[in-house]
Amino acid sequence: MQTITDPKKLQAQCLAWRREGLTIGLVPTMGYFHEGHLALMDRARPDCDKLIVTLFVNPTQFGENEDLDKYPHDFEGDSAKAESHGSDLLFAPEKTAMYDGAHATWVDVPELGRHLCGASRPGHFKGVCTVVTKLFMLSQPDIAVFGQKDWQQLAIIRRMVRDLNIPVKVIGHPIIREPDGLAMSSRNAYLTVEERNAAPAIQKGLVKMAEMVKKGERSAKAARAFLSNEYASSLPMGKVDYIEIVAPDTVEPVDQITGPTLAAVAVFIGKARLIDNILIEV
Ligand code: PAJ
Repeated sequence: MQTITDPKKLQAQCLAWRREGLTIGLVPTMGYFHEGHLALMDRARPDCDKLIVTLFVNPTQFGENEDLDKYPHDFEGDSAKAESHGSDLLFAPEKTAMYDGAHATWVDVPELGRHLCGASRPGHFKGVCTVVTKLFMLSQPDIAVFGQKDWQQLAIIRRMVRDLNIPVKVIGHPIIREPDGLAMSSRNAYLTVEERNAAPAIQKGLVKMAEMVKKGERSAKAARAFLSNEYASSLPMGKVDYIEIVAPDTVEPVDQITGPTLAAVAVFIGKARLIDNILIEV
């Protein structure tokens, strides 16, 4: 596996591969790999000739009081994991290489970005869309794989790719979980032992709520209230950021649950803000 830090070199390498007729797969990440990240690499591997993994803690998607400076990192470990999961190229640029002082162009999908995480993290998805567009322009991938854990991010990237006619096939990958159900996240590293033991309640509540909907509950308000109560009793140390019932493609909140619907939550536990979701088919 080769490691590249210079965006121009990445672009030159990818253009050369494309001229040879090789197909390119892309897995964008911010590093500190867990099984969730590695599953995306495994998903992409058989569908491309060259697999590129990017590792860049993108400053423009972090708010002022967020964890940019504390975001966990392990470059050596990540590099070894990416290589053992079939990566041909690890792209790990410096912040100044991706954004020089003159950077003035932004990509945004405000229609989809104002709900859920976008409401509590203003500007977050503008940063995500901009960096993902840059990564697409640099590597010109045939396919790119993103996780459904960040459902809204995936929905926004799909819309951006459609609206801007970006020639990439976006593939969504199911959420990879710990044996006790907690969605894997680099931010789980922030949890104390006590918090970690309590955190699986996030998914347990979502599953219970989905069962209630499958049994006939159609009111989004009632489903949200149910989950809110559930967390109050099963996760007293958690502080709910949002509990939303939305249309899967537009992430627009719905009143009535009439078709496939996504329940999405964000909960603060100690220093970590954890997100999870469940797709409910009725
Ligand atoms: P990061 O949080 O590192 O996640 C990288 C990719 O891994 C994303 O597509 C995310 O959805 C996926 N992922 C994380 N945890 C997962 C899990 N438990 N199961 C399945 N997939 C999981 O998301 C980002 O980075 C950034 O916003 C990025 C897209 C790289 C742009 O900066």
